[in-house]
Amino acid sequence: MKQTDLKMLEALISDIPRATTIYANASAFLNSVLADVSWVGFYIQDENDNLYLGPFQGNTACVSIQKDHGVCGVSYGKNETVRVDDVSKFPGYISCDAAARSEIVIPLRDKSGTPIAVLDIDSNSLNRFSDAHLEEIKLLEEAAKIIENTISAI
Ligand code: SME
Repeated sequence: MKQTDLKMLEALISDIPRATTIYANASAFLNSVLADVSWVGFYIQDENDNLYLGPFQGNTACVSIQKDHGVCGVSYGKNETVRVDDVSKFPGYISCDAAARSEIVIPLRDKSGTPIAVLDIDSNSLNRFSDAHLEEIKLLEEAAKIIENTISAI
């Protein structure tokens, strides 16, 4: 993924008045520009302050994730990006796909900074989101900001 992809993402989702459509096209776009990923999608806050599966690209996935559980629930609960170089070493990891080896989860916030969803990206390679990929991780966090700003503006 490169810097110019952020402009393309912005253009793709701007002026769309429906969150589902934004999430759907954003997941398809990120999946198309990222190398070596197996799943790209969103888990969205539900009425009990847990997470529910949203639009994604990849194999069928776990439908519901409790706050503070799994990589997604921990990222959502702490309101911070969580990177896992080896999912077999993450306590409470929720395995949706036996082939997954590493993962990054980035929270999306509303205007007040409260998390409303997470962007979850998996890879079948170990260390796909390690410090060696910090430049791309910064771009992913900027992509998440573009998506959250677009959704907050609806
Ligand atoms: N592994 C995640 C669950 C979601 S799937 O990766 C699509 C977790 O531990 O939260």
